[in-house]
Amino acid sequence: MDHAATSWPKPQSVLDAMMDSMTAAAGSPGRGTHSMSLQAGRTMNKARLELSKLLGFRNPNDVAFTQNATMSLNLAIKGLLKPGDHVITTMLEHNSVRRPLEFLKRTQGIEVDYVEVEPSGEINLESVARLFRVNTKMVIAAHSSNLLGCILPVEALSQLAHQHGAVMLVDGAQTVGNYPVHVEKLGIDLLAFPGHKGLLGPQGTGGLYIHPELQLEPQMHGGTGSQSDQPEQPDIRPDRYEAGTPNLPGIAGLAAGAAEINRIGVENIYNHEWKMTQTLISNLQHIKGIRLLGPALGQPRTGIVSFVLENQDPAQTAFQLDRQYGIAVRAGYHCTPLGHEMSQTKDTGAVRVSVGYTTQEHEIEALIRAVSALAKA
Ligand SMILES: Cc1ncc(COP(=O)(O)O)c(C=O)c1O
Repeated sequence: MDHAATSWPKPQSVLDAMMDSMTAAAGSPGRGTHSMSLQAGRTMNKARLELSKLLGFRNPNDVAFTQNATMSLNLAIKGLLKPGDHVITTMLEHNSVRRPLEFLKRTQGIEVDYVEVEPSGEINLESVARLFRVNTKMVIAAHSSNLLGCILPVEALSQLAHQHGAVMLVDGAQTVGNYPVHVEKLGIDLLAFPGHKGLLGPQGTGGLYIHPELQLEPQMHGGTGSQSDQPEQPDIRPDRYEAGTPNLPGIAGLAAGAAEINRIGVENIYNHEWKMTQTLISNLQHIKGIRLLGPALGQPRTGIVSFVLENQDPAQTAFQLDRQYGIAVRAGYHCTPLGHEMSQTKDTGAVRVSVGYTTQEHEIEALIRAVSALAKA
């Protein structure tokens, strides 16, 4: 139950596609005209097509592949911001947003405002509106918090951003593949996502959707197999953002994972995961000495349920869940120090349980029994 870190198990179709990419279609994509190279190129195109279907963008070439959500966020943030720009973001952001911003603050004089978020995911939009300045270039929000599981109002934030001429960057690490995300409907200009969480692909994969009218400064320069006589990185997409030979086996797995999500339907995945979290919360809330974080019972949330047991170190709780009960959860600090500050878990961290589409009712029941026993210990 650590799907929020990386999903497991991966579907058989993902494993098969990865193996196939190293046997039948093992050429270098975009770098040759022989059959295996063309087949490799088709694998890359399939991944882009599945993602455009899932995430609601028209041109499959508007997605650039990366190694993870962190790399996508770095490309979006460092590729767009210039010295003196101002950014509005939230206190629930992952370090993959906060650290690049703090780096640019220190090295380029970028200014950053971090806004508070309620445990339910609500944000006071009027106070956000007051933060805009003439130099506000970007609004950044996680679509769902990796600590609380709450869902943030990205559509309302993107409307505010656009009213003030700013770009909306969404960190989709906890929603892409788990919760409906439609970039056009939500007004998202940049969407960073991992391939290895909700999309069910392997580790070492991720992507960034880039609105067709946005041009980012590439963070990596080099061979693309296109316009090879030119000294500059090409303008054409996705080549501009994908220097070097890609992770073909990884992207083949990512394509199969995204196809699996499209086949099942992301709403069905969300509904299943939500049901699992509701069973979990409705039982855990009766345990004496437990403090549950995030949205209340009945409210929307992704598959994340974090908690703290009175007088118990979360690391110890997680260790016992693993060693005594064979249940994998994550404990400690979840790469979101301001999020811990807001949820008063700065000194302790928290135990984070996260479910996936394959999580079964009996596994939830086993977890509830184990946490009840540990709370009494
Ligand atoms: C909200 C959020 N953003 C970013 C990341 C970073 O993702 P990755 O490990 O794929 O770089 C994570 C992963 O835990 C996350 O939960």
